Amino acid sequence: MSDRILVVCYSNTGTSRRVADLLASQFQWARGEVRETRSRTGTAGMLRCVADSLFRRHPTVRYEGPDPREFETVVLIAPIWVYRLAGPMRSFVRDDAPGLKRVAVISVMGGQGATNAFAEIDRILGRPPILSTSFTAREVDDGSYASSLQVFGNAVRENAKKDGVVRPTTLSPSAV
Ligand SMILES: Cc1cc2nc3c(=O)[nH]c(=O)nc-3n(C[C@H](O)[C@H](O)[C@H](O)COP(=O)(O)O)c2cc1C
Repeated sequence: MSDRILVVCYSNTGTSRRVADLLASQFQWARGEVRETRSRTGTAGMLRCVADSLFRRHPTVRYEGPDPREFETVVLIAPIWVYRLAGPMRSFVRDDAPGLKRVAVISVMGGQGATNAFAEIDRILGRPPILSTSFTAREVDDGSYASSLQVFGNAVRENAKKDGVVRPTTLSPSAV
């Protein structure tokens, strides 16, 4: 495992997980995952996604993977729910904030809300992500995002080599 970079995703229906798996395999980076004990299947599960976003709730999560404190950079990958960061990733960022050094973010969505998620991570951490981008679920499904993901990964790796202050960058015109 190289670069001291960890990829952590939360995914309800599998799209963000596919992005995380591809990024980690493209660069041989370590993988972690935010999971929940309660299922979000069916109408009740969907409504809970909506309520978590509307009320910015912090659902109970458990993290599975290498300790994020051991990594210089953590790439967070999570869906957008109701124009906001999916609740389980909100919980993870809050719970692990003291141990997170450099944070990069990828939002996965139908089409809108990524910039709100970047802003929310900025608020929780007290600093913006060093790099952020977004992909639509359609881009992930048809595979057209793969080269942009590689560009993002290269930027994360280059950024990780720098010391000191880094300028936050959003790497996607589709990050809305
Ligand atoms: C409750 C709910 C709310 C959503 N709200 C938005 C939204 O506001 N904007 C958007 O672009 N996509 C929205 N989506 C679509 C998801 O972001 C998209 O399907 C994403 O790929 C799901 O990621 P996952 O498969 O990793 O769970 C929403 C999905 C759900 C279930």
